[in-house]
Parts: sequence; C-alpha cells; structure tokens
Amino acid sequence: MTVDRLATPSVLVERSRLHANIDRMQAAADRRGVRLRPHAKTHKSPAVADWQIARGAVGICCAKLGEAEVFAGAGVADIRLPYPLHPVNAARVVALLDQTRLSFIVDHPDVARGWSQAMTAAGREVDVLVKVDVGFHRCGIDPALPGALEFIRLVASLPGLGLRGLLSHAGQAYHATSADHLKAIAEEEAAILTRLATAAREAGIAIEEVSAGATPPARFSLEQDGLSELRPGNYAYFDRTQVGLGAATLDDCALTVLARVVSAPAADRAILDCGSKTLSNDLARGFSPLPGHGTVFRGAGLPPGRQPDTGLTIERLSEEHATVRVEAGAAPLAPGDLVRVLPNHSCVVSNLVDRVWLVDGPDVIEPLPVAARGRLT
Ligand SMILES: Cc1ncc(COP(=O)(O)O)c(C=O)c1O
Repeated sequence: MTVDRLATPSVLVERSRLHANIDRMQAAADRRGVRLRPHAKTHKSPAVADWQIARGAVGICCAKLGEAEVFAGAGVADIRLPYPLHPVNAARVVALLDQTRLSFIVDHPDVARGWSQAMTAAGREVDVLVKVDVGFHRCGIDPALPGALEFIRLVASLPGLGLRGLLSHAGQAYHATSADHLKAIAEEEAAILTRLATAAREAGIAIEEVSAGATPPARFSLEQDGLSELRPGNYAYFDRTQVGLGAATLDDCALTVLARVVSAPAADRAILDCGSKTLSNDLARGFSPLPGHGTVFRGAGLPPGRQPDTGLTIERLSEEHATVRVEAGAAPLAPGDLVRVLPNHSCVVSNLVDRVWLVDGPDVIEPLPVAARGRLT
C-alpha cells in the first residue's frame, strides 16, 4: 500500500530516518565510550527498543512502571526509571524484578527509607540512583547544599537499596536561546555531577554510574568528561522543537502526521483533519519562537530535501480540526489535498495513537504498535 491510501489522520514514521537517528546517536556514544540508554517514552514501542538495543544500547528508560511492565513483558532485560517512584508501588517493583533488571531514582529521605523497608520486607534489593537537580528545578537533590552528600551517604547505607550512582536531566535545555547556551548547560550539568561524584567517592561511597540525558544538549554532553551514561529519548524521532534547538535538521525528523484538507471556507483558510487529539497542544520551542502547531509540507510524500510551505501556518487547533492560515501568494489548499505535518513534540503525538505506520518513502511497510501508550501509572 502507498502512503496516500492511508486513512487520515495517521502518524507516520520514516524507517530510514529512524534507523539513521538510532545509528548516529549510538555511534557518537560509542566513540566517547559512554553507554547509551534511550528513553523509550518517545516511541513506547518494543520493536523500536529492540532496534536500539541491537545497535548497542545497554537498555532503555521508562518514566512509569506501566511502561516498564510492557517493555519487560516484551523481553527488555534492563530498564531504568529516571522517575521518582513512591514505595506504594513496591509490589509492582518486586514483580518487575523477576522479569528485568530494574533501577529507579530517589531524591527524598522518607522515600528512600520507604523503599528500603519495602525491599527488605520482600527480601529483595533494588538498584537506585540519586537524582541531582542540575538547574531544571523539577526533581532532584540540591547539589549545592551540604545535605547532598549526606543524602547520598544515607541511600548508600540503607539495606534493600543498591546505590548505582548519580543521575540528572537538564530539562532547562528546552529553553536554551542559542547553541552556546546549550553547550553551557551541558558543561554545567557534567561539572555538577562530577563534583558530587568525586565528593562521594572521597567519602568512601562507590559511585559507578553518572547518568545525564536529554536530546537538545546531547551533542555537547558527549564532549564532557565524567559521564558514564546518556539517556536521550526524542532523538529517535526528533520533531520541530529539536530542529528549532539545532539538534536535528528537517531531514532527520522521522515522525510526521499525514492529514487531509477537509474544508477550505475562505481563500486564506483551510481546515485539516488533525486537531489537538492528534498533534497535541504542545507549543514548539527553539532559539527563536516558532509559531503554530506544526510545520506543513504539501502532498503525501516527504522526500529528503523537501521544504515546508512557509505560506501555511497551523494557527489554531480544535480537538479534531487544525485551522491553517494560507498567506496571500501561497497556492490554495482544496478539500481532499494531503499534507504532512511535522509536529512540535513527537513524544506526545505517538502517545495519542495505538499504532504508527512505518513507511519507506511512498510505501507503507507495516503498522508499529505503540504498545506502552497511555500506560501512565
Ligand atoms: C529524566 C529524563 N531523562 C531523559 C529524558 C529524555 O530527554 P529528551 O526527551 O530530551 O530526549 C527525559 C525526558 O523527558 C527525562 O525526563
């Protein structure tokens, strides 16, 4: 079947771009001797995780236990949750430990003690990493406080917990204003982690792993010393935000939405059949503000080098409608026309569908189940 025969809207993943993205990041990590552990929240697909592991990834990351249960059930042998799990989930963690090598983060003394009690009660030990706040100010211990080393010491001392090391996520990179800014974020992240790891080691605490990871600063993180692991996720598909942050080119972006014009009520307005339930409401980020809800390419095909139509702006989303402004001078859109939309944020788009379609240029290869979609608990 060819792409133009698919029902719309459909989420498409260009196979050659996906494999090229997986290969490029793996090769860069291998060159630096850094272990790659991709975050699977982008694709939520065991098939894609298998490809990443076959190329050399040491395992995957998931955010939630529900996702980990899907990937462990599909045979992924090493899963890390860089997410602050609460010990109320102890029974699920114990069950997962029978299926896969599981690790997760801790950043709070009560939670660490709670996990210690739950694991010793179950007669088990679970690997943990201490989450360090490197400037995103979401989760993580404050590395500048004297309590940081005390917390690491506490975690290392608790029975039932096996301290593996330190972990961070520089999510502030999504608000970077230039490549230099991104580089500075990556340098600061590595400096904070290595300083704390050194202090812990000097205090006699074994820190085997130092894990950082996000797609925007990945190219700069790979230049840093002291990191043992990198955990980018979005790089498998990329999206409009990553192009805006200089982490990808339009030709690297593997995931797009095939949509159809369903109405053209005025010369300057056309309506696509992909609304917020397909594209999500996430806005694009980048060094310069990117307007609208995606980049529009005319037609069903997306050959390399194909440029978007800058005269088409998705200026508004309803649940099932995208309202496109057609600039004066741009060729009109007519009902029935097909377009490809590069979404602002591919991770949330793939989570909205049961399957994406793996495609090779004009040809549909196969559906790819998004098996862990919606597994949010
Ligand atoms: C803790 C953690 N690690 C790694 C990642 C992967 O980052 P990215 O989506 O930039 O590839 C994320 C993304 O949300 C994350 O929250």
